[in-house]
Amino acid sequence: MGIISNCTASVIKDAASALINGDLVAFPTETVYGLGANAIDKGAIAKIYQVKGRPTDHPLIVHISSIDSVDKWARDIPEYAINLARAFWPGPMTLILPRTALAKDFITGGQDNIGIRVPSHTVAHALLKEFEAQGGLGVAAPSANRYGAVSPTTAIAVEIELGSYLSKSDLILDGGPSIVGVESTIIDCTSNTPSILRPGGITQGMIEEILGNIISIESKNLQVNKIKAPGLMESHYAPKANLFLDGEPSEGDGLIALVNINTPEGVQRLASPINNEQFAQQLYSALRDGDNKKIQNVYVVPPSGDDIAVAINDRLLRASKR
Ligand code: TXA
Ligand code: MG
Repeated sequence: MGIISNCTASVIKDAASALINGDLVAFPTETVYGLGANAIDKGAIAKIYQVKGRPTDHPLIVHISSIDSVDKWARDIPEYAINLARAFWPGPMTLILPRTALAKDFITGGQDNIGIRVPSHTVAHALLKEFEAQGGLGVAAPSANRYGAVSPTTAIAVEIELGSYLSKSDLILDGGPSIVGVESTIIDCTSNTPSILRPGGITQGMIEEILGNIISIESKNLQVNKIKAPGLMESHYAPKANLFLDGEPSEGDGLIALVNINTPEGVQRLASPINNEQFAQQLYSALRDGDNKKIQNVYVVPPSGDDIAVAINDRLLRASKR
């Protein structure tokens, strides 16, 4: 196990072979880094759950290189889902669709549906292309963190987080910092109308622009989706520090806030993003930075807006739950 920084064609070839052979490959995506395994290899998938310390009834997202192979994994795909896929793939969006026989219980947590995503990051794309060229069908990849912890947005964060759990033959590919910074928008496409299970870089407004007014989009309360998306309700995305979303930081506390908000005397500023997009990009690395500095209390001034701020606030709320 080690970080590979220069992802040349031959590195990608070896990484794809590693996946075919049942090893784990952590790789960059535009949202966060994923911990990949061959989605039809039961033993390799078991390693993902082990390394993450994740309950096995939490389903995994299968990553493919293009929309063309979606029907290997999903059936009865509604027209609106195809329209969304055409508009936002490759990109930070996951569609939950009825599964085919290829999607076994060990991927779906026993559910009758499957999460599919086509990532846009060049390294992720190259890896998936090469994996498919070598006969692979899909790469299951949850965020490359221990269960309940903050998702990594850099290769070094993956190594710090999972290095001691990975084997010698597993790999970590470095593709630079993830540009979106929060996990993909998850859209349930198993009924007549779509609903957002997890907000992300593809916002409700962007979805509505594609689907028009014919289909209403309901951003469901995630608590209601207990059975459908088990990983989405309890304390999650949490740093070691206590996270506060209101109140004033005191000396020694950490602060994450938009640049126009001042840092009180003695407070450690962990990030000063200039807008909501940059807030999302910097949030997870700032939380990790706070933990590395052993800061016990981190204050975040949540951004407002109906853009990626919705996803940021969703993660902040869950990260602040204990
Ligand atoms: O941006 C992302 O989506 C990243 C990158 C690596 O692609 N992946 C990611 O995966 O965030 P993960 O496993 O950390 O989070 C996926 C969430 C989990 O809470 C899981 O329960 C839910 O999506 N999920 C996956 N498949 C599902 C399904 N078939 N039905 C409902 N929820 C599902
Ligand atoms: Mg995750």
